[in-house]
Amino acid sequence: MTTDSMQIYITGIAGFIGFHLALSLKKKGISVRGCDAFSAYYDVSLKKNRAELLEKEGIQVETLTCEQLAQNPQRLDGVSHLVHLAAQAGVRYSLEDPASYVDTNIYGTFHVLELCKKIPNIHLLFASSSSVYGLNTKLPFSETDPVVQPANVYAATKLSTEHLAFSYHHLYGIPTCALRFFTVYGTYGRPDMAYFSFAEKIVEGQTIALFNNGDMRRDFTHISDIVSGIEAALTYPFSFEVFNLGNSTSEPLMSLVRGLEKGLSTPALLEFLPMQMGEVTETFADISKAHEMLGFSPKISLDEGIAEFSEWFLRWKKTR
Ligand SMILES: NC(=O)c1ccc[n+]([C@@H]2O[C@H](COP(=O)([O-])OP(=O)(O)OC[C@H]3O[C@@H](n4cnc5c(N)ncnc54)[C@H](O)[C@@H]3O)[C@@H](O)[C@H]2O)c1
Repeated sequence: MTTDSMQIYITGIAGFIGFHLALSLKKKGISVRGCDAFSAYYDVSLKKNRAELLEKEGIQVETLTCEQLAQNPQRLDGVSHLVHLAAQAGVRYSLEDPASYVDTNIYGTFHVLELCKKIPNIHLLFASSSSVYGLNTKLPFSETDPVVQPANVYAATKLSTEHLAFSYHHLYGIPTCALRFFTVYGTYGRPDMAYFSFAEKIVEGQTIALFNNGDMRRDFTHISDIVSGIEAALTYPFSFEVFNLGNSTSEPLMSLVRGLEKGLSTPALLEFLPMQMGEVTETFADISKAHEMLGFSPKISLDEGIAEFSEWFLRWKKTR
């Protein structure tokens, strides 16, 4: 399908990734709109701010849960691709309130799948996560690796959505693409994620807790690379596919801290603590499949991306 004939609907459009994806599609002249429930998991004013910026660009943002959206399939009249990003995200909070993950991620995705069942020819792309690799020790993580040991409830719900989506594809022929994102960061990001909360703590002179004595590695992926990957997937003629979208560089957590100290021109106060329950020590994406099939090729290094984020963060902080 050419981009001219595409109409995209995004669930979770006022979220971090949804916001950037919608802006980028709009800039390319692709028809895009979406919904968000404006859940209170993190600062709702940031979500409202993103939604205002989207609306200024002429992108419609409906206040709806996935369940409400599914009750009104006519809302998706003319839509060719549904990009389902709405979720209860975050690993740590899944220890505190696991029910919200089952509810939002499993039931939410179930409603979206039921909706897709009713709309002929709709293509579904949805956010999975590097978390599905769980306790796997073989690195880098590849789509062909078994994924049977999720380390926390967030990961378990994301894995469940992949399974649910496969059954709906198998039963009803819905063209479906699962995208396993690896630690996405950037401007207008999520305050619950390490890069953002570390920045807050650095500028406020608070101590940053580094678990596993700081001996953690993450495949940090810049938002612009994730958006390029999703856009490439939108034009790929998938039947059922799973893609890793990561930077494919496993970075020590200390590189993130050092990048933030430089970008914010302030030293970090650090406290080294033991490993936290539910965490994994390393994530690292094998992106050869996305590279071969989608031409996915991440461009932004952690240093560049964190410098850009820090500049934005300091400006944003002044508005709070
Ligand atoms: N950011 C990352 O590093 C990352 C990594 C892996 C996977 N993901 C996945 O990517 C997707 C987008 O992540 P994000 O970082 O933009 O998170 P986000 O929390 O910023 O965005 C999710 C949005 O979904 C909305 N939402 C929550 N429940 C809803 C419901 N029932 N109905 C409609 N909207 C609802 C929230 O209000 C929020 O705006 C999520 O599925 C997340 O699990 C993100």
